[in-house]
Amino acid sequence: MTAFIVGGTLSVVLVASVVLIVRVLLWGTPAGREFVARYPGEIPLPTWAPEGFPAWVMWQHWLNAFFMVLVIKTGWTIRRTSRPMASWQSRHGGRKIPIEQFIHVFLDMFWLANGIVFVVLLFSTGQWIRVVPFSWEFIPNAVSSALQYVSLSWPTEDGWVNYNALQVLAYFTTIFLAAPLAAITGLRMSALWPARAERVGRVFPVEMARKVHFPVMIYFVLFVLVHVFLVFATGALRNLNHMYWGTQDDGSWAGFTVFTVGMVAIVGAAVALRPIVTTQVAALFGRVGR
Ligand code: HEM
Repeated sequence: MTAFIVGGTLSVVLVASVVLIVRVLLWGTPAGREFVARYPGEIPLPTWAPEGFPAWVMWQHWLNAFFMVLVIKTGWTIRRTSRPMASWQSRHGGRKIPIEQFIHVFLDMFWLANGIVFVVLLFSTGQWIRVVPFSWEFIPNAVSSALQYVSLSWPTEDGWVNYNALQVLAYFTTIFLAAPLAAITGLRMSALWPARAERVGRVFPVEMARKVHFPVMIYFVLFVLVHVFLVFATGALRNLNHMYWGTQDDGSWAGFTVFTVGMVAIVGAAVALRPIVTTQVAALFGRVGR
């Protein structure tokens, strides 16, 4: 108990000191003030950049969350299953795989298809400019945003028009690094990987894929936790209206309502995803056996 109190007090003091030190450095010194003035955290977009969230962004965002939750759940099931419940094999023959793996890869294909459509739409509508760091200026500006978060004077929010540089780097990393990495390492371990691709197989062995795949999931989970926390901590109603209702600042609860319905659907699907259901789905697409 004493250790708990002492530990707790020390952590609070430590966190408060870090906040204070960063505050003093950023706003109490000429160099700090100059740095923030030069790198405010946000980089102006070119005039042609689109504003707001079209319907496809809203749909894609929700579908991504829907499949991502199921993908994480089924991936986690693979990790803690030592003896597969059943096996699955295509009707055309080929490798027998654990049914847990079939269901994970099955859901992955929806997640991946949604992601590919998303990236194609990003580039065909100009929306990419909002999530790709297009100059080196993003680095010092992201440092500035990070320091502003730590100082507890958070960067001003204008997600409808432009994200701060740290957000851009986080979204870019998630869309263009983490997602492809999850897909390529997952495909490498799956039965979809062509057995004949021996040379590629040697440079990129299954063991390497297995080592990378799980940490990528951890990255996704951390990203989602921070992302959802910040959505709620920086103007929940407004942010939810942006992404679930497509309006900027009408102060209504519409976005929140749609978000809640969407979440109920996601949780419902995650709960329904039980062996009874997964076995049926697997049997529709191949042979389920011992
Ligand atoms: C196209 C996308 C993906 C494919 C094809 C794929 C494929 C696979 C395969 C074949 C396995 C079984 C590995 C084994 O035999 O041990 C696996 C495991 C797993 N997957 Fe995926 N996956 C994909 C995306 C994802 C994503 C996006 C996540 C989470 C964010 C994820 C989370 C997991 C987890 C947690 C495991 C268990 C890993 C372990 O046992 O260490 N997967 N995946």
